[in-house]
Amino acid sequence: MLAIIGGSGLTQLSNLDVQERRVIRTPYGESSGVLSFGRMRGRDVLFLPRHGYGHSIPPHRVNYRANIWALKECGAQRVVSIASVGGIRADLNPGDIVIPHQIMDYTWGRKNTYFDGNDVSVTHVDFTHPYDENLRRQLVLSAAAAGIAVRDGGVYAATQGPRLETAAEIDRLERDGAEVVGMTGMPEAVLAREMELPYAAINPVANHAAGRGKSAEHVRFEHLSEILNEVMSRVRTIIDGVIRLL
Ligand code: HPA
Repeated sequence: MLAIIGGSGLTQLSNLDVQERRVIRTPYGESSGVLSFGRMRGRDVLFLPRHGYGHSIPPHRVNYRANIWALKECGAQRVVSIASVGGIRADLNPGDIVIPHQIMDYTWGRKNTYFDGNDVSVTHVDFTHPYDENLRRQLVLSAAAAGIAVRDGGVYAATQGPRLETAAEIDRLERDGAEVVGMTGMPEAVLAREMELPYAAINPVANHAAGRGKSAEHVRFEHLSEILNEVMSRVRTIIDGVIRLL
């Protein structure tokens, strides 16, 4: 079963025919909200809004461990994460869609592993390729089949938030090789890996990153919802198509 984690601008999947909602208790506390079990294109799909249904949980307070655990517990076999980003690369504009292939973690203080505690043996998961290449490929194919332009590959930098970055921080991220910046990509991706869940992401670009393009002076978050509404309809189409490919 495919699980979708929705981000800002995607707290519901309008093309999901919801059959049941379930609260899942996990050893790590509560997930961001009830899980929606539904059907799309005749297939079972699980949906969880990362920031809660009222968009009330900020990135640094999302219970990533509970979320991934709950999806696995409910039978998810793969996870597609939707997470909006700021564009760092000069040729990325609001409304563009990136299917990232690499990630860098600048977050701190988040509970970022299941292999924790006295009774757990020391475990170092391989994370060379943080996104599942097969699932990534299917997202790219689905977009192509629907005539939706996406950027195949990109380096995602995960920042702590909830504040936006300074222009100097974005310069540093770019020197480090980052192309997009967001606040929720980690530890979500590594927890999925620890749970052996293939994981890939769709990153709609909501804004130019701080100090870049139209954000040269400041990042105007008030415009973001308009852009996200439009881009999320393309994201839904990509998801719809990927279900047929899986
Ligand atoms: N920075 C960090 N996270 C984001 C941004 C940004 O500019 N835009 C959307 N999520």
